[in-house]
Amino acid sequence: MTEEDKVMEKVDQGEGAVGEAVEEVAPQDDFQPSIVGILCNWCSYAGADLAGISRIQYQPNIRVVRVMCSGRVDPQLVLYTLLDGTDGVIALGCHPGDCHYQSGNLEAREKFESLLMVLRNAGLDGRFKYEWVSASEGQLFAEVVGEFTDHIRSMGPSPVADSANLQFKLRAAQREMGDFRLRWLVGRQRQILEEGDAYGQERPRDEWEAVMEKVLRDEFIRAQIIEATIEEPASVEDMAEVIGVDSVEVFRHVQRLRYRGKVMMAGHRDQSPLYKATGVEVE
Ligand code: FES
Repeated sequence: MTEEDKVMEKVDQGEGAVGEAVEEVAPQDDFQPSIVGILCNWCSYAGADLAGISRIQYQPNIRVVRVMCSGRVDPQLVLYTLLDGTDGVIALGCHPGDCHYQSGNLEAREKFESLLMVLRNAGLDGRFKYEWVSASEGQLFAEVVGEFTDHIRSMGPSPVADSANLQFKLRAAQREMGDFRLRWLVGRQRQILEEGDAYGQERPRDEWEAVMEKVLRDEFIRAQIIEATIEEPASVEDMAEVIGVDSVEVFRHVQRLRYRGKVMMAGHRDQSPLYKATGVEVE
């Protein structure tokens, strides 16, 4: 029986519990960050349980969400959690090659790398991290959680609740990551990197990352244009001010969105045309 099987047997018998694993550690600071940990059932959750069984202490700030595989973690879920004011989110999965569903963690890695770029674009860098922790790595689990907790503590509380601009950016990031074309592209990344693109052309990782960086930045601006014009029409200059990008670039993206049928003209103010998002329900 492998080490992992032994741990899973204990978990099944109820000998370990992630809740029990959370031991109080003396706070080094008044600020206690709220951290959501999204843990793969087969490796990291069992690793957390092993930490509990072994009485390994780790910082008590993490609240665990168990999923069957890290590949199941939707970037929109992470964005939603950060938008809700959580100080940090960490996703933990099986090591590459150990995923119980063959390649879920490899798919997750590509999604998480894209998510990190999106968060950088939104101005909320450093509050999401992903790592690999196996069922037999209780000590590593405690270290990873401890390091991330210290890192978030050093950054201070999430600025999202007090910043309308950050909330706007995160809503746009959610919208961006929900776009079906982008989801398709992000979902195809691994295949494109391993097997080449639709024309059989090889794509080196650094070259591909530069492409994704541009795509994610462009789509983020477009998502912000939609977000800024859902309720009220706005001019290109209005949008440029809200988004923080020059008006020539905003105009270029508005034309692309009009072509896609996502934005339409909605009158004029003085000499400037106004644009409004179309086909978007106001929540
Ligand atoms: Fe653990 Fe897929 S089963 S990452």
